[in-house]
Amino acid sequence: MDNGYVLAIDQGTTGSTVLIFNQAGEVCGRASAEIAQYYPQPGWVEHDPQEIWSVTLDVVGAALDQAKAKPGDLRAIGITNQRETSLLWDRHSGLPVARAVVWQDRRTAHLCDELKQEGLEPLWQEKTGLLIDPYFSATKVHWLLDQSDDLRLRAAAGEIAFGTVDSWLVWKLTGGRCHVTDYSNASRTLLFNIHELDWDDDILARLDIPRAMLPTVKPSSYIYGETDPKAFLGHRVPIAGIAGDQQAALFGQACYRPGLAKTTYGTGSFLLMNTGRKPVASRQRLLTTIAWGIGDEPVEYALEGSIFITGAALQWLRDGLGIISSAAESEQLAASLQGNDDVYFVPGLTGLGAPHWDAYARGMIIGITRGCTKAHLARAALESIAYQTRDVVDAMSRESGIDLRELRADGGAVANRFLMQFQADVLGVPVEIPSITETTAQGAAYLAGLAVGFWSSREELAERWQLAWRYEPQMEQAQRDHLHKRWKQAVNRSLGWAEDPKG
Ligand SMILES: Nc1ncnc2c1ncn2[C@@H]1O[C@H](COP(=O)(O)OP(=O)(O)OP(=O)(O)O)[C@@H](O)[C@H]1O
Ligand SMILES: [Mg+2]
Repeated sequence: MDNGYVLAIDQGTTGSTVLIFNQAGEVCGRASAEIAQYYPQPGWVEHDPQEIWSVTLDVVGAALDQAKAKPGDLRAIGITNQRETSLLWDRHSGLPVARAVVWQDRRTAHLCDELKQEGLEPLWQEKTGLLIDPYFSATKVHWLLDQSDDLRLRAAAGEIAFGTVDSWLVWKLTGGRCHVTDYSNASRTLLFNIHELDWDDDILARLDIPRAMLPTVKPSSYIYGETDPKAFLGHRVPIAGIAGDQQAALFGQACYRPGLAKTTYGTGSFLLMNTGRKPVASRQRLLTTIAWGIGDEPVEYALEGSIFITGAALQWLRDGLGIISSAAESEQLAASLQGNDDVYFVPGLTGLGAPHWDAYARGMIIGITRGCTKAHLARAALESIAYQTRDVVDAMSRESGIDLRELRADGGAVANRFLMQFQADVLGVPVEIPSITETTAQGAAYLAGLAVGFWSSREELAERWQLAWRYEPQMEQAQRDHLHKRWKQAVNRSLGWAEDPKG
């Protein structure tokens, strides 16, 4: 028995969370803190890279204190992160060039239209597994490079680095020694050929992005380097795991075999199905993505349905409208009604992702009458999470030919019993909640622990997966169909709204 720990950093959209795991896989320490969200223009979302770093470091300290662990007890660090969010920094000064452009940001919608009009989508989809959408990093990097005259030249000369949040954190943790990312994060940039496992020169050329600014791509479970004692609490600790948050959650949920799927309810929701060593091309507007690479083993792939706004709809009711004081309060409000009274909320606050991919869709609440209360809005927000998930599950079934028999769920919103029951009802299949719902951090810890031999194998980890709760569907089929039909009608009315703001 090793008395040490693996530390997992989960740098999410909402904030940073750090979990400390012992060898038995138990959580011994936990801390989290939110980061500021900047909305400088409608449809824009930004984060401050320096804040991401400083908040993360603070949270590491707090989690260590809680576990009563010392930095010297850490056997490895695993990192998981909000994906696609794009940062540029100066390699000499280590300073960010601008605020990070967050995955939800829609500022490059017009550039994406141009690329699609050029007919590039089929080829880029084949190479990268993705669609052309502002969601992915590529057009964000192009936009950032356009912001000052010499930036592109300096990037080509190797002076400016690009990274997703994982790369930025590793850069900071290693005192600027490592500029790396992993396969799963690279596969979200729209710059990476997921078959050849290399950056794609044609896409780079079209977007005028110099290769010299890109990180080196490594497996997800791999020793990338050690922390610089000056940057990290006076200690050298191997950084040994990196994965995008959704792939990390798939790993934490022990979905190691083809056909196994999970969905994570955070800011948005992301349903991923393991497809093994085969990248399955999608005809249903799902994404083909790299799940992970473990050491020297061949990489594994997943199919993904990305929903941009789920838990964030509750945050908007809380922070934007101020009609609830916490996300949790939505549960009793929703349950205070017998039904939705035909009120629907399409949370296209940052456009709609899978299966619509409409960067110009916007949020919409429909069906309001004089009897409408905040309970209706809370209920409609929660229901929208379940309907969006149903749309993605339907697309996934059509794509894979596999009917889902149950759904493994995790993330913050699984605490909401109304939502989980409604989800099972709308899907018509059981929803399963594991005992550890912070599977994102768990997955990052597992990847890092495997690389340093703290844990021996995936089989060992899979045995730890434990069911905590199972929600069985109770709704009649006719009601399920009716609700879903009304939802789809509402979605259709929200599409394309922002397309011509002056029209
Ligand atoms: N009881 C609840 N009912 C509904 N939603 C909830 C509840 N508790 C938390 N949430 C929502 O879950 C989200 C937080 O979940 P979680 O902590 O997993 O997200 P996160 O990891 O911070 O998200 P991300 O990684 O996308 O930043 C928030 O959007 C919040 O509104
Ligand atoms: Mg998260």
